[in-house]
Amino acid sequence: MSALDFPQTSTVRRIADDERARVLAAPGFGTHFTDFMAHARWTEESGWGESSVLPYGPLQLSPAAAVLHYGQEIFEGLKAFRHADGSVWTFRPEANAERMQRSARRLALPELPVEDFLASLRAVTAADEPWVPKATSEESLYLRPFMFASEEFLGVRASQTVDYYVIASPAGPYFPRGVQPLVVWITDEYARAGAGGTGAAKCGGNYASSLLGKREAAENGADEVLFLDSETHASIDELSGMNVFALTRDGRLLTPALTGSILEGVTRASILRLAADRGLEVVEQRLVMSEVLDQLGTGEITEMFACGTAAVINPIGSFAARGGSWTVGDGGSGEVTLALRQELTDIQYGRVPDRHGWLTRL
Ligand code: COI
Repeated sequence: MSALDFPQTSTVRRIADDERARVLAAPGFGTHFTDFMAHARWTEESGWGESSVLPYGPLQLSPAAAVLHYGQEIFEGLKAFRHADGSVWTFRPEANAERMQRSARRLALPELPVEDFLASLRAVTAADEPWVPKATSEESLYLRPFMFASEEFLGVRASQTVDYYVIASPAGPYFPRGVQPLVVWITDEYARAGAGGTGAAKCGGNYASSLLGKREAAENGADEVLFLDSETHASIDELSGMNVFALTRDGRLLTPALTGSILEGVTRASILRLAADRGLEVVEQRLVMSEVLDQLGTGEITEMFACGTAAVINPIGSFAARGGSWTVGDGGSGEVTLALRQELTDIQYGRVPDRHGWLTRL
């Protein structure tokens, strides 16, 4: 039972029906926002309270708000899917709620109870129900819960006032080219996170530290950047916002182990389960980049892909770095990659039975 009830303060929509229909016809990713947002405030003195669903719009924030200076902020990403009968569901939301609690602990922010996290998702999705794309598309309503230090204070300590919001954005494919093989740039200059740092937390700082690498990737004609571990610069961590997998010819599905410096992806965990279900041997271990590149050359590794809530599962077609370039398989979309993607999205859109009980009705 949620302690926060998120009453809706207004039912006036900010976007007209015809404009919403235009947006939903081609939502892209992350550029359009809905009519409402959920909010709750925490204070050191009173804990969580003041919850509501408000019209979506700019926030009022002191220029001295701690988040603007010290980056005390965390977020989550999950999706609402419409099923053929019109109902709206989300995927493993407790896993996101629990990860947000772990991120909160690492960033010295207050933990939001799982039930309140779920209540906030329900509240915003109910208010924004017309924004959940039709079941006939492979589109969804992307939900972005986030929490930040809003106290007006310039000393360095954990904020005593924290604001939590959930905004929503109709989402098509994360990559502008759709589900096409990615060109991935291996940066030898930047690392995303280091030992003992915040790499496993979903905090803005990790994404900020990925941006120069992403720019370097784009300047070299690549879609994404791959970060190596900060200590040895030898093993694969992750992309700017996605975990990485490799499939071997003899049926092993490899992914970097959770070392504390990579994100514990909900999609990553779900893929490990679906892959094991279909008889693949799943291996979480240190993946040395040079060995992976050698195994691409010998054909030992046949497929690679990136995954995350936003990106779902996206094939990797090739790697590039200052020292050369390497093709994954024939450079196209791997068969197992696409089969896993199909199975995952079939579960999310209710097209096959939810045998692991991963769906929650919103
Ligand atoms: C997500 O996949 O939900 C993320 O938060 C990652 C970001 C690249 C959009």
